[in-house]
Amino acid sequence: MSKQKILVTGGLGYIGSHTVVELINAGFEVVVMDNLYNSGMEVLDGIESITGVRPVFLKEDLRNTAAIEACFDAHPDRQAAIHFAAYKAVGESHEKPLDYYENNLTSLTNLMRVMSEKDRKSLVFSSSCTVYGDPDKLPVTEKAPFKPAMSPYGNTKRIAEEIMQDVCRADEAFNAISLRYFNPIGAHPSGEIGEMPQGIPNNLMPFITQTAFGIRDELKIFGDDYDTPDGTCIRDYIHVVDLAKAHVIAVQRMVKGEQDKNYEYFNLGTGKGVSVLDMVNSFERVSGKKLNYSIADRRAGDVPVVYADTTKANKVLGWTAKSSLDDTIRSAWEWEKKVRG
Ligand code: NAD
Ligand code: WQD
Repeated sequence: MSKQKILVTGGLGYIGSHTVVELINAGFEVVVMDNLYNSGMEVLDGIESITGVRPVFLKEDLRNTAAIEACFDAHPDRQAAIHFAAYKAVGESHEKPLDYYENNLTSLTNLMRVMSEKDRKSLVFSSSCTVYGDPDKLPVTEKAPFKPAMSPYGNTKRIAEEIMQDVCRADEAFNAISLRYFNPIGAHPSGEIGEMPQGIPNNLMPFITQTAFGIRDELKIFGDDYDTPDGTCIRDYIHVVDLAKAHVIAVQRMVKGEQDKNYEYFNLGTGKGVSVLDMVNSFERVSGKKLNYSIADRRAGDVPVVYADTTKANKVLGWTAKSSLDDTIRSAWEWEKKVRG
């Protein structure tokens, strides 16, 4: 039987690279398009050493429509695309909103236009729990309304989903699935690929592992006066490999024509709310290291509590996050030690 074929944009990034591995393991032939803005060629080596396969790599920018057309012309057999390519730094998006709107939205519309023209209309998109803002009900289901975004970055995800919905409404042959990630953390168990934040990390997990390794002096916990059991914010931290596997299932669902509607969306999380202090305690337990931390002011724009109701993904996709929090955190720590070691 011939292999299923797929285009992965942003496929050398953190979540994209783990997904490329799972796609190859599931028998897909992958073409990766990435401009290396936030990744490097060593990730391709990592993918190859895990899978034994070096996917076709195109160093191209999704803002360039001609490059996407050339990719589909050179690889006309792509049955679907997964679109990871975007900027993702929430703080930076406040400083450079135009860069975020331009990169995140132009890349999407360019890709969808070329997919329409070439009649290759199956797309999985990286969305985010950020579309729910500060939700009224917890755990948050897919029925929760979109709330005003807390950042230009978050707004690009809301607008992107609306664009996809409009395109799918106008063209019933266009199939799309948005996957709303909660907080992806951790690394591949091989230690070959993982998260590589540039400069000072914005996110909690790499800040914890870098502090434990001595690269940062101290973790600042942003607020301990929230209305939560220990006063710190609550999130839903999901192992990146569990997240990656959901993409394979989503693509297969689309390619097999199993969608209930041509535009679908799913929460991807563990369904468990975990506080910042829970994260610190779990890290100390699995690493055997004491973490240097202090309590600081709240960070502007932080939602107090958000975690997923994953019933829809569990039932419809037949997917569940499997990794325990301790195992997930252990993988992040092993990765940090390997990278610095
Ligand atoms: P990442 O920065 O590690 O990966 C994104 C990749 O896209 C990078 O390799 C980058 O070089 C590439 N890229 C960016 N703009 C491009 C362009 N115009 N053309 C070609 N390549 C381009 O980010 P990630 O954490 O892997 O996130 C992947 C996707 O998931 C993004 O859309 C992000 O917004 C979304 N997401 C991430 C998180 C998270 O916490 N990491 C949570 C929810 C959603
Ligand atoms: C988690 C918790 C912080 C760092 C962001 C984006 C979201 C999504 C995932 C893409 C919060 C606290 C953090 C630190 C801390 N990305 N914290 N000290 O903010 O939930 O989500 O990444 O779509 O859109 O907003 O993740 O890892 O930054 O923070 O106390 O040094 O850790 O206050 O409660 P967040 P995070």
